[in-house]
Amino acid sequence: MAVDLGAREHYADAALYDFEYRRRRADVRWYRDLAARVLGGPGDILELGCGSGRVTVPLARDGHRVLALDQSAPMLAALEDRRARLAPALRARIEPVAGDLLGFSLRRRFGLIIAAFNVLEHLYTRVELDAALRAVRRHLAPGGVFAFDVQLPDPGWLARDPTRRWARTRFTHPTTRERVWYSTSHDYDPVSQIALIRLYYEPENGGAEQVVLLSQRKYFPAELEALITHAGLSVVERNGDFRGAPLGPRAESQVLVCRSSTVPAKKNLNPRRRAAR
Ligand SMILES: C[S@@+](CC[C@H](N)C(=O)[O-])C[C@H]1O[C@@H](n2cnc3c(N)ncnc32)[C@H](O)[C@@H]1O
Repeated sequence: MAVDLGAREHYADAALYDFEYRRRRADVRWYRDLAARVLGGPGDILELGCGSGRVTVPLARDGHRVLALDQSAPMLAALEDRRARLAPALRARIEPVAGDLLGFSLRRRFGLIIAAFNVLEHLYTRVELDAALRAVRRHLAPGGVFAFDVQLPDPGWLARDPTRRWARTRFTHPTTRERVWYSTSHDYDPVSQIALIRLYYEPENGGAEQVVLLSQRKYFPAELEALITHAGLSVVERNGDFRGAPLGPRAESQVLVCRSSTVPAKKNLNPRRRAAR
């Protein structure tokens, strides 16, 4: 129950979401560069978990047609508002669609599919991730690419005292216009690998504190690669940030580029024979 709430509550106030991540730019540049590299010019992109369009709109500005899928009505409404303010030709290149990562079927294939900024951390079990990755694979055009980023789990962060509050800062809430103290706490279950995060918004001048749930499934790198392979995809690039740093102990993100796996030649399936060569 709390896990389900945590997949939605953080996205109920799109203005607050946009405010909190307004300085996140490096990933947008990276997805734009990737689209140019993969599609070689304006092309068709499927964006999973598009949110309010932080990445969608810049991709459309570059000439791509973006089918933007999300399950959150408030985030899609914010994308519609943003779209309404765009020039007609640009607006026409963005097609918002309400849908679930788990069961989407769009009857179209794409040269590029993306899931930017921890979207896959909302797939809470191996079965859910597998279903979503297989849906991705079915929607990839021949030679198409799937790219996404999730956080690199930080053992120190996961083990933090769940009774304490962290990241205390103060800001003016974009919706209520009140000065609020923001802080977080989290509880990580090492068996399900799900972190239940609470985001606290406490009005400076008194008033009720708002508590917002955010649940994230943590994916460790070797596990993630195994699950991707199991779903019939293979990892062709893997970095630790959006500037091309290798994935290492101090990386924050796992930035992955995948393709559909081709069936390997029979001789390659025998590891003994390969080792003997
Ligand atoms: C961290 S936000 C990222 C939004 C956007 N990609 C960005 O970079 O700003 C995660 C998004 O995934 C969406 N989401 C979570 N679970 C989903 C699901 N099962 N199906 C579709 N969208 C989902 C949320 O509604 C939210 O908009």
